[in-house]
Amino acid sequence: MNWTTDNITSQNGKVVLVTGANTGLGYETALELAKKEAFVILAGRNREKIAAAIQRIKQQYPSAKLEPGLVDLSDLSSVKAFAESVISKHNRLDVLINNAGVMFPPPGKTKDGYELQFGVNFMAHFALTAHLFGLLNTTPHSRVVTLSSIAHRNGAIDFDNLKLEKPFDKFREYGQSKVADLIFTLEMQRRLERNNSGTISVGAHPGISKTELLRTDKPEMIHQFPHMSANQGAFSSLYAATHELEGGEYIGPNGEDELTGYPAPAYIADYAKNEEIGLRLWEYANASMRLDFLA
Ligand SMILES: NC(=O)c1ccc[n+]([C@@H]2O[C@H](COP(=O)([O-])OP(=O)(O)OC[C@H]3O[C@@H](n4cnc5c(N)ncnc54)[C@H](OP(=O)(O)O)[C@@H]3O)[C@@H](O)[C@H]2O)c1
Repeated sequence: MNWTTDNITSQNGKVVLVTGANTGLGYETALELAKKEAFVILAGRNREKIAAAIQRIKQQYPSAKLEPGLVDLSDLSSVKAFAESVISKHNRLDVLINNAGVMFPPPGKTKDGYELQFGVNFMAHFALTAHLFGLLNTTPHSRVVTLSSIAHRNGAIDFDNLKLEKPFDKFREYGQSKVADLIFTLEMQRRLERNNSGTISVGAHPGISKTELLRTDKPEMIHQFPHMSANQGAFSSLYAATHELEGGEYIGPNGEDELTGYPAPAYIADYAKNEEIGLRLWEYANASMRLDFLA
């Protein structure tokens, strides 16, 4: 039996935060969780786009419990301020979904100097998770879901090229950011276990799903591949967020080469499982952002 959103049980009482919730997979994830009665914080960088997403969900589910969150993931001071505002309003956080992302933008850096894809897709989510960890750690059975990609298979971390030191290669840099997300997922789980935390860390990828992700490159490229709607693409995240799972699991579509299908355990490249690289990336992120997350 394929898993669908019909399998999601009531999420009433849970507080869920989704980054990049105004469109694409984040929007569909927020929509389905709101439908199942979770309190959903929709985080995005554009106040109007988040308000419009909230309005769209409310039109379908007037009783949806939704809160807007403003965060620019290309600016670590914004990430910190956003996390502080969440902590000031909530006394629990059941699920953090590190979803927002950019793919193949023109060469550029975040405010803090990281290559844009690495900075937004990985560093900002590391920082957000770190800042919110106190809240997650005191919420029973909480979890962190981080979005990776099939592109992680070709990714590697070049510690000499995290700040666009080398000529920009959009494929290489996107792959680097997405393998970083999966390394982060697995390394966090190891550290949560060592700290006897009740929080778990899991990963998800949406195969290929029709969203706005390629908006600054070639959006039509998606038609060369089997792909899914954004709603079905969000099934992996939704399963990872709501299904009974062990920490460290990675969920993706069950079809050929994980491009389309329904949630199932997904392939993890050996590189992402390498504990030495996990340790080095974790220490880099903590040191570079002056954090002390599960050190
Ligand atoms: N679609 C796919 O086939 C696919 C495949 C593999 C992995 N993924 C992953 O899935 C995740 C979601 O992507 P998507 O396909 O849903 O793309 P999308 O439709 O482009 O949505 C991306 C979201 O991230 C937000 N975002 C981008 N930069 C941000 C920033 N600096 N601060 C705050 N929010 C920011 C966007 O906000 P704005 O609208 O304001 O820009 C948008 O809400 C990404 O992590 C992506 O790598 C997607």
